[in-house]
Amino acid sequence: MPERDAGDLLRDAERIVVFTGAGMSAESGVPTFRDALTGLWQRFDAQALATPEAFEADPALVWGWYEWRRAEVELVWPNAGHRAVATIAAHTPDTLVITQNVDDLHERAGTTRIVHLHGSLFAPRCSACGHAAAVSELPAEGGRIPPPACADCGDDVRPGVVWFGEPLPADALSAATEAASDCDLLLTIGTSGLVHPAAEIPYMAARAGAAVIQINPEPTPIDSVATINLRGPAAQILPDLVCKAWGDR
Ligand code: NAD
Ligand code: APR
Repeated sequence: MPERDAGDLLRDAERIVVFTGAGMSAESGVPTFRDALTGLWQRFDAQALATPEAFEADPALVWGWYEWRRAEVELVWPNAGHRAVATIAAHTPDTLVITQNVDDLHERAGTTRIVHLHGSLFAPRCSACGHAAAVSELPAEGGRIPPPACADCGDDVRPGVVWFGEPLPADALSAATEAASDCDLLLTIGTSGLVHPAAEIPYMAARAGAAVIQINPEPTPIDSVATINLRGPAAQILPDLVCKAWGDR
């Protein structure tokens, strides 16, 4: 029996998890975190921007930085990789996207079943009472922007993303671990697999007997559990994979 290729695995799967990281949005022009030179953490100090302490020390600096990142996302479009993920879900309804990304590109490509493990740039909330806040007008430029005041308690509104040192949203993490342990195929796309606990997801799926297909131009620790490694950019590989599986793009 010839070894089943990635297209066969995708077509035959009944319960699919699509696990994505910053590389999923790279071809839309959204910078990743750790790519050499272009990664956000190569150009900015994650500790000065992406921790609760940083926000406590200088709310305007942190709020302004995340609003600039949201403005960047609003200016770009989902790429062919995001659209291919939506096509996968159209063919296989029991498909869940588990993303570490805080952008809304999966949503704008038409995917509806999504778990945001690290929150979203589009879900600001009060830093004190947790009340959901309205998304502000886009800033005209980057720089320090004093955060809005919570409509309920008046305290500072914060970005709705998970910072270093913070726990992941419990409901998101339990939905993700449940799906990873029950799927028969996991696609891991555009993540370095460096940041835990999110990075555990592909290993959970492999331990539960799922096939794991990795799409990434670079090797990652996830290579060790990948059934198939597709080396290359997501926006090229994913449409070809969907075409192999179902003949459509
Ligand atoms: P952590 O402190 O354990 O950091 C783990 C990884 O984060 C490190 O291995 C490194 O890859 C990266 N990291 C930490 N400090 C860094 C720095 N100064 N420069 C570059 N990279 C750095 O992460 P954590 O405390 O467990 O964070 C909790 C969760 O919050 C994690 O899952 C993380 O992915 C997430 N997070 C989200 C954002 C965001 O903007 N959405 C930013 C930071 C962290
Ligand atoms: N297609 C697929 N993968 C790509 C592409 C592309 N076009 N371009 C880059 N990549 C890969 C890189 O090789 C790298 O392995 O995407 C990965 C991006 O890794 P990171 O920048 O570390 O992003 P991510 O894995 O999502 O980071 C995890 O860390 O800072 C925290 O919360 C933040 O969610 C983030 C988490």
